[in-house]
Amino acid sequence: MAQEKERILVVDDERLVRWTLLKKFTEWGYEVREAGSAGEALDLYRREVPDVLVLDVRLPDLTGIELLRQVKSQCDTCAVIMITANPQVDDVKAALKMGAFDFIAKPFDFDELRVTVQNALETRRLRAELDTLRDEVRRKSGYHDVVASSRKMTELIEFVRKVANSEASTILIQGESGTGKDLIAKFIHYNSSRQGRPFVTINCSAIPETLMEAELFGHERGAFTDAKAMKRGLCEMADGGSLFLDEIGEMSLVLQAKLLRVLEDQTFRRIGGVKDMSVNIRVIAASNRDLEQAVREGRFREDLFYRLTIIPVFIPPLRQRRDDILPLVSFFIEHYNHKFKKALRGLSSEAGEIILKYDWPGNVRELKNAIERAMILEDDTLIRPLYLPFQVTSQSAIPSSMDAFPDARVSESRWTELPSGRLLPVLEIPARGTSLEEVERELVHLALKQTSGNQTHAAHLLDISRDALRYKMKKFGLERIS
Ligand SMILES: Nc1ncnc2c1ncn2[C@@H]1O[C@H](COP(=O)(O)OP(=O)(O)OP(=O)(O)O)[C@@H](O)[C@H]1O
Ligand SMILES: [Mg+2]
Repeated sequence: MAQEKERILVVDDERLVRWTLLKKFTEWGYEVREAGSAGEALDLYRREVPDVLVLDVRLPDLTGIELLRQVKSQCDTCAVIMITANPQVDDVKAALKMGAFDFIAKPFDFDELRVTVQNALETRRLRAELDTLRDEVRRKSGYHDVVASSRKMTELIEFVRKVANSEASTILIQGESGTGKDLIAKFIHYNSSRQGRPFVTINCSAIPETLMEAELFGHERGAFTDAKAMKRGLCEMADGGSLFLDEIGEMSLVLQAKLLRVLEDQTFRRIGGVKDMSVNIRVIAASNRDLEQAVREGRFREDLFYRLTIIPVFIPPLRQRRDDILPLVSFFIEHYNHKFKKALRGLSSEAGEIILKYDWPGNVRELKNAIERAMILEDDTLIRPLYLPFQVTSQSAIPSSMDAFPDARVSESRWTELPSGRLLPVLEIPARGTSLEEVERELVHLALKQTSGNQTHAAHLLDISRDALRYKMKKFGLERIS
């Protein structure tokens, strides 16, 4: 098999130097491109990332060091060798710190140059190999797609890992919608000795009760009018593996009894069958409802509840583990960069603040959707607040302690309640849009007017510090309001 030639890009403003290097590198079997300026180099680089970049420290338009910085921020896989006529210690230090592989001095010692390029390529190969291996290990451990930075989540993962490797035959995962119950269920399966066997999912709320039983337990031929042939149920299919029962709170009482039997004896009967089938399955159940409440209301069997809660896993809502927010954002940005072939680098500082303040009632799913949307719309390198969903920006931008104003003799109908319980004046966004910044200015203005310019009081109304208020007054030119 013909191996593709490794590519070198030579950047130097001296034509003779380029020519010499081009000749040598070609002779040594590399494919070579050349550029006489940083601009030209960046153009070429964007079109096709070389394996090695040989870069002069002094260029007509940008310094080599600056070019190195730009190149490294775009793609980290290329090995950079700097060339210089008179190496200055500072340059050398800066370049090495920024990830340059090595320095070579002009005039060239070609043997040395050849070895340096070989070493650079070898290092690059080893690094790529290491990355692949690391990815593989992470994929195998199933850990790669669960972000857990907060203490609550790292502890949860540790616990769940233990559970996965235990003999536990039933596990109940509880948590609000979008907290990651599906994800943790898969994590448990793929981190258990059952990982080579099926992971079978059924959503108890999505299937009508009459079909559910046949889905779970299968039926014999002729068990009912439509049963033309024998059908295996999910319990059989999951044999040796895990059966994930999503939204178990929606299961009918009749089926709950049958499920309990599976959990207790690992046996069941197909519909219309006369013999017991025995299986070895682990049931992972999930619910976003309060099952205890359902038990009290007689909608959920108490014995099944106790059986399921032998090993309970509770995933806290995102607002109770805010340390996970930014790591999740980075994770989703990376995910969508890959999917949408974009190169966003993160959040603008304003967007970061807003995202951290928001309560995320839809939890991780809501955050993921918000990032997806922003990344579809955003053309800049950082996500700006402009592209965050309205409910997210509005919660953090509108001051939330209007109700603290003592003279607020207003009818309730003029206020709407925020998730935090605080009140917000009823506002509507006109179809042609508005400006968040101007709305903020108006609110600061209003607070100052209502308090006759009393800054302490106005800051209190807006639930910000006096310094923050002064800063905003200055920013919006409201310093002379009284
Ligand atoms: N810790 C996490 N790391 C990475 N992605 C996560 C994490 N938690 C949740 N997600 C992602 O958020 C989305 C919602 O998660 P999931 O479907 O598991 O939630 P759920 O609790 O099952 O929600 P529902 O109650 O609505 O079924 C998924 O795309 C999932 O991959
Ligand atoms: Mg789910």
